[in-house]
Amino acid sequence: MAALPEILPDLLDALRAARHVAVLTGSGISAESGVPTFRDAQTGLWAKYRPEELATPEAFRRNPRLVWEWYEWRRGLVAKAAPNPGHLALAELERRVPRFTLITQNVDGLHQQAGSRNVIELHGNLRRTKCFDESRVVDTWPATDDVPPRCPRCGGLLRPDVVWFGEALPQSALAAAIEAAQTCDLFFAIGTSALVQPAASLPFQAIQRGAMTVEINADATPLTPRVTHALRGSAGEVLPALLKALTPYPLS
Ligand code: APR
Repeated sequence: MAALPEILPDLLDALRAARHVAVLTGSGISAESGVPTFRDAQTGLWAKYRPEELATPEAFRRNPRLVWEWYEWRRGLVAKAAPNPGHLALAELERRVPRFTLITQNVDGLHQQAGSRNVIELHGNLRRTKCFDESRVVDTWPATDDVPPRCPRCGGLLRPDVVWFGEALPQSALAAAIEAAQTCDLFFAIGTSALVQPAASLPFQAIQRGAMTVEINADATPLTPRVTHALRGSAGEVLPALLKALTPYPLS
């Protein structure tokens, strides 16, 4: 286990006094659950696959079977994954803070599985399926040999309910995320390369509003020089350590 970064008293004080904590997570928080990240060299999905061939509406029109099967493979990975101590620590933190907003770029649903309640999914969820033409979630469809399967309503192709490159984010989710970043007094960015917009602009909204900002990440990112505290390490180790430091005495 790598040495844990020092957790400074002013961060603990701010966390104890916080009225509203907002958190942005990326694929790094699910890495320790066996879900691949996107941009980590070698292990990242985009190191092996070309996003323009798999994660755009154009790619789906060109080859719907390829795209559907690739997401089926990712669904299989996620179905086997369990929340790790990082997810669980955030669910616990939510129970200790008056207002807690968890904004995730992840489509794996592991935060909700860990018990997090106030979760904003910016990029959708792999476990949901929707009609490509009607853009409406479809829960069940007749079992046929069609790959991708067909929408029971209009006969259109079904697709995963995730946001592809070039597509707009769900407006209500984005508005709620911006509101949280602008009203929180403590903002965490965890396990994200902070490269993909508009999610990557959220920490800067919090910085502009004078919130204390904390990055927990295995590597440096464009955000690192701008945050109040940059804690280098793995989320599954740093977050439980933060919780432990917050509770200097055993909980009854
Ligand atoms: N703990 C903390 N950080 C980690 C860990 C870990 N165990 N493992 C990896 N990281 C860090 C990496 O150093 C990297 O900075 O997590 C970050 C993951 O970055 P990306 O792979 O770029 O993933 P993310 O930021 O979530 O990508 C944003 O891009 O491809 C799209 O829609 C997709 O939601 C995704 C978006």
